[in-house]
Amino acid sequence: MSGKRVAIIGAGVAGLVSIKSCFEEGLEPVCFERHNDIGGIWYYTEQLRKGQAAATYDSVVTNHSKEMSCFSDFPFPKEWPPFLSRLRVHEYLHSYADHFALKKYIKFNADVMKIEANSDGGWSVTISNGAGGKTEEVFDYVMVCTGVFSKPHFPSYPGLETFDGIKMHSNEYRDSSKFKDKRVVVVGAASTAGEVACELARNGSIQVFLSMRNGTVVIPRIGVQCTPWDLLCSRSIVNRDRILDKIAKWRIQDRTKIGLQCSEPIVNIKSLMVNDDIQDRIVQGKLEPVVGIEKFGKNSVTLVKGRILDDIGAVVFATGYQITFQFLKDTWVFDESDNLQLYKLVCPIGVDEPDRMALIGMFAPGGAAFPAFELQARWAVNVFVKRVKLPSKEQMRACIQKKPKYGRFYRSISTLPYQEELAEEIGANPSFWKTLMYDPRLAMACWYGPQVPYTYRLQGPRTWDGAREAIFSVWENTTCPTNSYRSTHMK
Ligand SMILES: Cc1cc2nc3c(=O)[nH]c(=O)nc-3n(C[C@H](O)[C@H](O)[C@H](O)COP(=O)(O)OP(=O)(O)OC[C@H]3O[C@@H](n4cnc5c(N)ncnc54)[C@H](O)[C@@H]3O)c2cc1C
Ligand SMILES: NC(=O)c1ccc[n+]([C@@H]2O[C@H](COP(=O)([O-])OP(=O)(O)OC[C@H]3O[C@@H](n4cnc5c(N)ncnc54)[C@H](OP(=O)(O)O)[C@@H]3O)[C@@H](O)[C@H]2O)c1
Repeated sequence: MSGKRVAIIGAGVAGLVSIKSCFEEGLEPVCFERHNDIGGIWYYTEQLRKGQAAATYDSVVTNHSKEMSCFSDFPFPKEWPPFLSRLRVHEYLHSYADHFALKKYIKFNADVMKIEANSDGGWSVTISNGAGGKTEEVFDYVMVCTGVFSKPHFPSYPGLETFDGIKMHSNEYRDSSKFKDKRVVVVGAASTAGEVACELARNGSIQVFLSMRNGTVVIPRIGVQCTPWDLLCSRSIVNRDRILDKIAKWRIQDRTKIGLQCSEPIVNIKSLMVNDDIQDRIVQGKLEPVVGIEKFGKNSVTLVKGRILDDIGAVVFATGYQITFQFLKDTWVFDESDNLQLYKLVCPIGVDEPDRMALIGMFAPGGAAFPAFELQARWAVNVFVKRVKLPSKEQMRACIQKKPKYGRFYRSISTLPYQEELAEEIGANPSFWKTLMYDPRLAMACWYGPQVPYTYRLQGPRTWDGAREAIFSVWENTTCPTNSYRSTHMK
């Protein structure tokens, strides 16, 4: 260890990869987690925990397949299905933390209240133990891993305060039990809205209305030839939007025919919904997509254009989240227009020394979060140890401004090109020509096969001996767990 200390705030996915990346580079990580377990949103409890903003519901299943979602040197168990329950994800995070001995670096029930810049460089971090006790510790570097979904977003509507039924943000939704025999409005057009609306329509709500102001595009988890949708994403694909459009049309050729409203090309659409069920719920009549809301009555909802939905017993706002940092100065991370000012979505240019602070996981990933956050953490510690040099603040500002969709809330950035960009800077993006020279089969798998995270452990710092085999096992690991007939009878 170099003796340089890194404060890591949060022990969710971003925190765990940050701890590992730090000790791999000889830095000394100390992780503060306000709750009593690791996992962040994957640590499921019946009630929201104190200070918890984002949460999953009981039935959540990953929206990216396991081979695209894993950490680059730690595959999900072969026997597990391609899409995973919250229990399995939480178990995986525990086994990752145990395998790499990460837990000894974590202080639980430690809530970070404030971070201040020291005049001689580095940071003072104030931590509360939740029982009135406060301590202050000094660090050389800070990694903020507190999650992008840090405050539920509640839209306001005229009359909402007079509405008599259940009003709930999706972060409090756990299952359908409170909604039986009710007519329910679910607001939102992305994955949570779709999953909650379908679950209610299946499980005893009288009628469910899905209110979308702009419509949506539905991506099925699995499509042609029973392939998980994201395994089609390879480095050789130039137009990723076209592929996504094709995938969306596997199940639902014409979205407008079943009321999903959206005939726009995929690049113009804001909301993506990963869902395998919505078309069936709609054609069976239990779920009706409707337009946006104009106002609420005591037990009614008036839609834009005047239609009134009567006898509404509950409304669930699956309207997403906002990002806030209670312990950081806003000017460090946001500009005057409230846009995040993070170089490479990681280093805040509002601090004096952006190469001493990193924010990991501060965007809504369009692809799987885990490998993208892992590369951010690997890149960040390479910045800390000065293997990667940051450009001047002006250059970083110009670079941030070139990417207009990186706003205050990074709505779905394309993770695969982003991962390549970070990997390139730390020397972990495999070179096609170099690989072709010594291992042509591997070069083909890296370029024309799925862009799996293992490809970032083939070369550069911290390679993993198992990476090559893992790359060649992707299809077997995906199909074998769901085909017990073949594995039992056809060995
Ligand atoms: C419903 C839902 C489903 C999702 N499904 C998927 C999916 O299928 N696949 C996928 O890739 N991604 C999914 N995501 C995205 C998900 O957010 C990421 O996968 C990832 O888990 C986020 O990890 P994180 O560490 O950035 O944040 P979090 O999981 O939010 O963890 C942040 C941690 O920081 C701690 N913390 C916060 N503030 C403080 C403080 N002041 N002091 C100390 N500790 C603090 C929190 O207690 C928490 O443990 C989903 C998100 C939601 C909301
Ligand atoms: N594993 C899974 O299956 C799964 C399930 C759920 C969520 N997730 C993940 O969890 C994260 C959060 O997803 P999310 O669906 O909760 O939130 P989200 O992706 O931020 O979507 C929020 C939705 O709310 C709508 N909305 C926002 N403000 C509105 C308003 N004022 N009126 C009407 N609609 C409004 C948006 O529609 P507009 O397009 O109109 O803005 C959008 O569809 C994402 O990363 C997602 O991938 C994963």
